[in-house]
Amino acid sequence: MEATLVLLDGDGIGPEVLREARKVLDTVAQTFGHTFTYDHRLIGGCAIDQRGTSLPPDTVEAAQAADAVLLGAVGGPKWDDPRAPDRPERGILGIRKALGLFANLRPVHLHPHLVQASTLKPQVLEGVDLLVVRELTGGIYFGPRQEAGDAGQEAYDTMLYTRPEIERVVRLAADAAMGRRRRLASVDKANVLASSRLWRRVATEVLAEYPDLEVEHVLVDAMAMHLIRRPGDFDVIVAGNLFGDILTDEAAMLAGSMGMLPSASLGDSPNRHGHPRGLYEPIHGSAPDIAGQGIANPLAAVLSAALLLRYSLGLEQEAQAVEQAVAQVLDEGVRTPDIAHTGTETVTTQVMGDLVVQALRASAPAPSQMP
Ligand code: IPM
Ligand code: MG
Repeated sequence: MEATLVLLDGDGIGPEVLREARKVLDTVAQTFGHTFTYDHRLIGGCAIDQRGTSLPPDTVEAAQAADAVLLGAVGGPKWDDPRAPDRPERGILGIRKALGLFANLRPVHLHPHLVQASTLKPQVLEGVDLLVVRELTGGIYFGPRQEAGDAGQEAYDTMLYTRPEIERVVRLAADAAMGRRRRLASVDKANVLASSRLWRRVATEVLAEYPDLEVEHVLVDAMAMHLIRRPGDFDVIVAGNLFGDILTDEAAMLAGSMGMLPSASLGDSPNRHGHPRGLYEPIHGSAPDIAGQGIANPLAAVLSAALLLRYSLGLEQEAQAVEQAVAQVLDEGVRTPDIAHTGTETVTTQVMGDLVVQALRASAPAPSQMP
C-alpha cells in the first residue's frame, strides 16, 4: 500500500517521540512491503515562532490531502502568556475542527508488567481494558465565550451541544462496544447541566437501537470515582469534550503512565483508501520539563502509529505487529524512567524505539508469507 502521512512534531518532547514512531512506521513499510511518504508540517508553538500562527494554512491543507496525520505534542512555557493573541493549543483544536474529527478514541490497556508502575493497588487494576470515546469538536471547547482581558472581571465559556453532535459520537461508541464486551457507559452531568440532559436524552434514543448493549448513564463525578475504584467493570465509555478530557488523564494512570496512552481522532471523511482520515497522537503533552533530555517514553507515540495503521490504513496485521513488539520489549523489562521502579535500569527514548524496531523485525512475516 502507498500512503501519505503528515507528521506534526510540535513542541517539547513531540519531535523526540515522533522520531521513534516514524522509525517504527519505516520498519513496518520495509517488512510488510508498503510505501509511506512523509510530509512534515508545523503546528503549535514552533509554528507561532516560525510562521506567526499556531496553525498555518498549509498544515491544514496537507492534512486534508493526506491519508492520516501523526502528531507529537504542542505547548510549553514559552507560549504561556495569557495575553498572547495565539496559543499552541489553538493549533490542535483548530486542526481537529478543520478535519471534522468529532470522536477521540483513547484505549486504556494495562500491560501486566506495568502494574507496579501504577499508583493504584494491583487488585483494583485487575481486568482493566477500556476504550474512552471523547467527543472532540463540540461542547465547552467550542461554545460561545467571552475573555475577561486584563481589566475585565467576568468571563464565560458555554457548553453547547446539538442533537447531531451527540448522536454521531454515541453511535460510534456503541458500534465500538458491539465489537468488544458490549458494555457502554455514557457520561454526563444531567442532574445539573441542560446540555447534559440533552446528551442523556439523545444517547438514550440512539442506544435503544442497540438492544444487545448493556447501557448505563453515569454522572461524571461518580465516573471519576468509579474509574479508580472498579475500572475493570467498564468497557466503552462515551463522554463530552471536557468530561472526556479530564477522565482520560485519570484513566491514563490506570495504564501506569501518560507515556503509554495513544489516541485516535476520527471523523466522517474518508481518505483515498476508503478509511477515515484520522489524527493520531499520544495523550501526553509536550512535557517541557524533560524535553531535550532523551528520556521521554516514545511508546504512546508508537502505539498511536499502530492505531493509524489500523484505522486509517486498514492494516490490522501491521497494527498488531507493532502492539506485540511493544508488549515484547515491556515483557523483557525495558523501561523509560516514567515506567521504571526506582533504582532499576532505564533506557533512553531512542533505545526504546530501537528495541521496538528490533522486536518488530524479528516477528515480521518472511517475504514469501506476505499478504
Ligand atoms: C488533550 C489535551 C488537549 C485538550 C490540549 C493540549 C488542548 O489536553 O488532547 O487531551 O484539552 O484537548
Ligand atoms: Mg487532555
